[in-house]
Amino acid sequence: MGEFVTVGKASNVPEGEFLVAEVDGQNVVVAHVEGEFYAIGEECPHAGGPLGDGTLDGCEIECPWHASRFDVRTGEATMPPATEPVPTYAVNIDGDDIQVASP
Ligand code: FES
Repeated sequence: MGEFVTVGKASNVPEGEFLVAEVDGQNVVVAHVEGEFYAIGEECPHAGGPLGDGTLDGCEIECPWHASRFDVRTGEATMPPATEPVPTYAVNIDGDDIQVASP
């Protein structure tokens, strides 16, 4: 696992919302669900859609291009057309800092 990179303030991301940040040249989505923060890759594995422009519904983020869904806790694709998961990254909360492990 790489270094942890601070990507934002936890207090700026209420439950049910997310932020998009760049970690080591990779865009990641950091979502706040069920009282925890989870980080996944921002690029949809179906055709490269930007999950950061998608919508978060409970634990699932929906791709804005063809409506695939991914569980932000596991990266798993939960709705086709995508079948491949998105990568997940470890998240650490240090005070109010959200830190994501670099890929
Ligand atoms: S690019 Fe995301 S569902 Fe097609």
